[in-house]
Amino acid sequence: MNLVNYHTKDAIAYVAMAKAPLNALDMDMIAALHEAMDRARRDSAVLGVVLFGEARMFSAGADIREFDAPDTLRPALQELCSAIECLCKPVVAAIHTCALGGALELAVGCHARIAMIGSRLGLPEVSLGLLPGGGGTQRVPRLVGTTQALQLMIGGKPIDAAQAHAIGLVDEVVTSDLLASAAAAVIRLATGASCRVTSRLPADVSSESLAEIERRRTQTARLSTPAQAAIVECVDRAMKHAPEDALAFEWRELIKLMHTPQSRALRHLFFAEKEAARLSTGAAPEALVPIRRIAVVGAGTMGSGIATCFLAAGFPVVLLDVADAALERGRDAIQRALDAGVRRGRWSCAESANFIDRLTTATDLEEAASADLVIEAVFENLSLKREVMQRLGKIVTHDAILATNTSTLNVDELAAATSRPSQVIGMHFFSPAHVMRLLEIVNGRATSPRVLATAMAIAHRIGKQAVVSGVCYGFIGNRMLEGYLRETDLLLLEGASPAQIDRALEAFGMAMGPCRMLDMSGVDVSARVVEEAQRRADVSRDGAYRLVCRRLHAMGRDGQKSGVGYYRHDGQKLLPVDDQTTLYASWAAEFGIARRSSISDDEIVHRCLLASINEGFRIIDERVASREGDIDVVWTNGYGFPRHLGGPMYQARQWGLPYVIARLEEFAKRYPREPSWAAAPLLAVQAAANETTRSTA
Ligand code: COA
Repeated sequence: MNLVNYHTKDAIAYVAMAKAPLNALDMDMIAALHEAMDRARRDSAVLGVVLFGEARMFSAGADIREFDAPDTLRPALQELCSAIECLCKPVVAAIHTCALGGALELAVGCHARIAMIGSRLGLPEVSLGLLPGGGGTQRVPRLVGTTQALQLMIGGKPIDAAQAHAIGLVDEVVTSDLLASAAAAVIRLATGASCRVTSRLPADVSSESLAEIERRRTQTARLSTPAQAAIVECVDRAMKHAPEDALAFEWRELIKLMHTPQSRALRHLFFAEKEAARLSTGAAPEALVPIRRIAVVGAGTMGSGIATCFLAAGFPVVLLDVADAALERGRDAIQRALDAGVRRGRWSCAESANFIDRLTTATDLEEAASADLVIEAVFENLSLKREVMQRLGKIVTHDAILATNTSTLNVDELAAATSRPSQVIGMHFFSPAHVMRLLEIVNGRATSPRVLATAMAIAHRIGKQAVVSGVCYGFIGNRMLEGYLRETDLLLLEGASPAQIDRALEAFGMAMGPCRMLDMSGVDVSARVVEEAQRRADVSRDGAYRLVCRRLHAMGRDGQKSGVGYYRHDGQKLLPVDDQTTLYASWAAEFGIARRSSISDDEIVHRCLLASINEGFRIIDERVASREGDIDVVWTNGYGFPRHLGGPMYQARQWGLPYVIARLEEFAKRYPREPSWAAAPLLAVQAAANETTRSTA
């Protein structure tokens, strides 16, 4: 199989990248492109080259797997781009679908770029903790100016062909005949118009450009990944140093970044996310249940958020609730979410109008009859959900899928109520559902493989990161969160303050500390879930379990919504609650919990995280999650775990499992009333195996 196909027609050489699925630019592909360019150079009958990608896209960029062995890499893409610039014959990149990372760098190394409308172009290396190392930091600023270039590289978000044209990244956008347009450009360049060599364009040394460098330098110094700051320095060199020096600097910085723990963690997540969603791309479309129309039952915050997701993906949706007033509120919430999407540039005004046109509302559950996928999002109450599922089971067509958005209830029990359990699945969206990327797909005991594959494909279509979970209390994410919150409440009883706990975990990198999070999402919501879970013995029935949360709720201190919870809320300000110390001390005394005058941040971080990590190993052992990577994907996408640390399970591996065990034993000795500190059997086995490997190495 050729990596690159080469043919000539009418004095033009067509060089096609041909490596399924995404034309990744690995070392072999770059060498093959080099050869093809050389062949075109040597052929006197060839006037110039059209460079394009066969099959799905132009190219997804460098092969990320090669970054695991940084010291074996050479600056091959830099060399290829320089060779193209010196070819003496015009090379035009014909871009369709995607030109990302190294692929865009390759395109800017060409003499012109023609893009198919709707194609996406970007430099997303920063999302892997890296920088564009194929000369991109040098050429892109020359082409589009420093400000736009820094935005592309530091923001990392791809832009579409029209935007790329507007900033000068591509020369022409076409709606059809991409290759013919590129060939015409080659002829134009070869027979008159001068050939523009990007790296010889003058550097952007305007005062605005220098000011932008300074602004970005200050901004990126605070970040927890070094890639952004390195990008600024490379662009600075593009202005002040000879091109060869600047390119050498870019390459050295790239290799340094590949070795950083942050980049390793981000690369782990890149592949973990693909792996977690694999079913969604693997199943043949004919094997899936055709989904054309959606019904969402319950027009509250979750229901309207879920409806928004499907509308924005182009599905017609019927939103159902018992009262017209609830439907009105739901419709308003959807409209507000769509308007916010217009403001953020996610879709146009016209698209938003089209989306809302596809929304109907009804108070009669029978209206769900025409839907292929019905998602219930009613109040989190077992008997209510059971009743709704039972009725839906009688209403919908034989092939339709019934999904429940429960976050804590037993999907198998709900499925049993429908008399068609093989068609039932859990789709656990996170709030706000139209914003949060994570979707836990809960595979019930009776769920058919076809229904599972369809749910995964639908998740992909609505732009969600799917992770499959088995049935258990809280599924993957919330079950692990229990341990985290259990320790939060205990630490408060032992003498830590909400502010200290939040500060310690936020300094570790969590997006939001647990006390702030509970106040925001509602102490009442969490307390009710715990009480129900204790009643059903899904969690410990110890009287001290999640005591602070339950007691605060009993006192009406439900967080932000009631002005007081773990904090006192004064507008946006979070203040300590006046009586918190006395209150927590008296509750601690009631349960014989000793108070301490000082608790270290290290203890806070390790107790909260190790409680969840230990549960993570139990979850794998019970096959609720298939892989450690799936857990990492859940926690980084749904629970604010810092991406540059790769997720809780990845972090446990970085700490080393024997260290994890040692800390669990330390906590187990100190807190004998908490049986969960016993190491999960799988963790104990793997830690022992690690020790053995180390001692025999
Ligand atoms: N290097 C190595 N493998 C890559 C890759 C890359 N640059 N980009 C994608 N892949 C792999 C994926 O891991 C996946 O592998 P799998 O089938 O074994 O799971 C496969 O290619 C298909 O990718 P997928 O993301 O499922 O396809 P998609 O059509 O949904 O999306 C892209 C295509 C290009 C938009 C997406 O893959 C992407 O954003 N890739 C990363 C691009 C990037 O960051 N490039 C810069 C590298 S420095």
